[in-house]
Amino acid sequence: MDIHEEEHLGKLYDAQLARRLFAYLKPYRKYFLTSIVLITLTSAIELSGLNITMVVVDLYLKPRPAEELSLIARTVANISNQLNWQPSIPEALTVFSAIYLLVIIVVFALSYFQDVLLNTMGQYVMYDLRKEIFSHLQRLPLSYFDRNPVGRLVTRLTSDVDALNELMTAGFATLFSDVFMLLGIIVFLFLVNWQLALALLCILPLMIAITAWFRRNATRAFRTVRVKLARINSFLQEHITGMAVVQIFNREEKAYREFAKIDDEHRKANIDTIFYYAVFYPAVGLINAIGIALIIWYGGLQVLEGTLTLGALIFFIQATHRFYEPIQDISEKYNILQSAVVASERIFKLLDLPISITSPANPQKLGKFKSEIEFRNVWFAYEDENWVLKGVSFKIAAGESVALIGHTGAGKTTIVNLLLRFYDVQKGQILIDGHDIRELDIAELRSQFALVLQDVFLFSGDVKTNITLGNDAISKEKIIEAARQVHADTFINRLDGGYDAPLTERGSTLSAGQRQLLSFARALSYDPNILILDEATSSVDTETEMLIQDAVGKLLQGRTSIIIAHRLSTIQKCNRIIVLHKGKVREIGTHQQLDSIKYRLTQSLPQLKR
Ligand SMILES: Nc1ncnc2c1ncn2[C@@H]1O[C@H](COP(=O)(O)OP(=O)(O)O)[C@@H](O)[C@H]1O
Ligand SMILES: [Mg+2]
Repeated sequence: MDIHEEEHLGKLYDAQLARRLFAYLKPYRKYFLTSIVLITLTSAIELSGLNITMVVVDLYLKPRPAEELSLIARTVANISNQLNWQPSIPEALTVFSAIYLLVIIVVFALSYFQDVLLNTMGQYVMYDLRKEIFSHLQRLPLSYFDRNPVGRLVTRLTSDVDALNELMTAGFATLFSDVFMLLGIIVFLFLVNWQLALALLCILPLMIAITAWFRRNATRAFRTVRVKLARINSFLQEHITGMAVVQIFNREEKAYREFAKIDDEHRKANIDTIFYYAVFYPAVGLINAIGIALIIWYGGLQVLEGTLTLGALIFFIQATHRFYEPIQDISEKYNILQSAVVASERIFKLLDLPISITSPANPQKLGKFKSEIEFRNVWFAYEDENWVLKGVSFKIAAGESVALIGHTGAGKTTIVNLLLRFYDVQKGQILIDGHDIRELDIAELRSQFALVLQDVFLFSGDVKTNITLGNDAISKEKIIEAARQVHADTFINRLDGGYDAPLTERGSTLSAGQRQLLSFARALSYDPNILILDEATSSVDTETEMLIQDAVGKLLQGRTSIIIAHRLSTIQKCNRIIVLHKGKVREIGTHQQLDSIKYRLTQSLPQLKR
């Protein structure tokens, strides 16, 4: 994983980004709007609940003349007059306690629905987003995967999407309700007693200052934590994947020390964030206490003077407590929001990557391959001007078996990559039956081929799905027939469960030879027009050798084939040989010249086995 990428920090608010995020909410706007209504309602009810103590104290416990009452207490008194409700004190206490309880229950119920709604919406948005990212990933050219490690791409689909969900549910909901609460409390404070409210607001700058300090430092500290965590992840990924190498070369001790070091850095970074939290929370508590002390002192004096009721004083103390909660909350959520913004930027960057290898709008029809494959002066480089193929030209006629040989790094696999359009050529053309492959539908082009590689990739799943790759058009009989033809049936039948036997990740329970036979069965069951074997027979034990030779023979029957091989015994079955050297075609030998070429090759290419 690229560490520097984790260090990147976005702006917290970016209009374009916000618009794009909202686009994902659009299908779920009913959820979204209902949530907002519910949040508003919950906060409003919670706010009115705060007034109950004041009303009870001022109207019933220590009754005040009407002119001394706060606007809210006065309104409640008016309403009960109009309703002709003159309760005794115990009656009033019972009724208002019941109302208080009711408020709590209603707030609970509303919060529940709002939470469920918002999180359901979040899950749907994540579901959509993951599908979109995966579908985009699948269409990206292979060159993208050359440059981007697996770990990073998995992060896009997992934790980055999660972070975004956090933003849309927890982040958004708390932000909205916190801001609403904050404004509501201020309005109520002024309604009850504006002088005291002004006095209380005096300590607000202090609060803003400490919050700003916290945010600035916590952001920096959290960024460090993220960087260190990314380092731990990439270290683990590398070392777990390469565990065999670590153990063979006795690198455990050194790897352990290295890991201990980055683990320690991660610990230090986390402890750093703890410091800021440890200062921030008590500091907010302190400011809160200062506010309450101010109210008791200044408000208490006012109570003695008779300009403030006891109930109002109690209300102020309660409201002050509630006042700092949202502020604390917002500061705490700041980091979540920030990493969510970064995550969304990264996700959108991935989604914006152009899909450079696409089918044309009006593809030419290829049909069944019948005439010839032609490389016409093909130049290709994976990067910049590092030419891997330099003016390669050759033709392969339908029905022919052609061997492609040359030193390691000569460009043999590259030729296959280009033919299947995993990459596009920079200069020249590749033609199939006279059509430039860029003029063909990619799916149609690729369906002409079956490719067997030296490294057989097996998916976790059972044997038969690894042969069909989930293609339902291939019948059970066809699977068994294909396996029988390439002699894979012997070992499959010995497996516990036969064709239904589960294979572990990458087929690690099979030998290399067995995996190879399985991949031959895969190729044969797809019955391709053109078969490509890329060093498919080199990693096989002598025991399987004979089987493989025979299997290859079966595969070649009635098919056009390109065989990249180290073994002369495999090439024996080919009609022609193309010798590739440093990205150029050095020699093309016909059937008649086969023997002399083979002789010279064994002299000049010692790695060719007999
Ligand atoms: N994905 C890639 N990105 C960059 N360079 C590559 C890539 N794949 C192969 N190459 C380079 O291209 C050259 C030819 O590789 P390849 O076609 O795999 O050779 P081979 O003949 O052994 O199959 C080599 O120098 C190799 O380093
Ligand atoms: Mg190769």
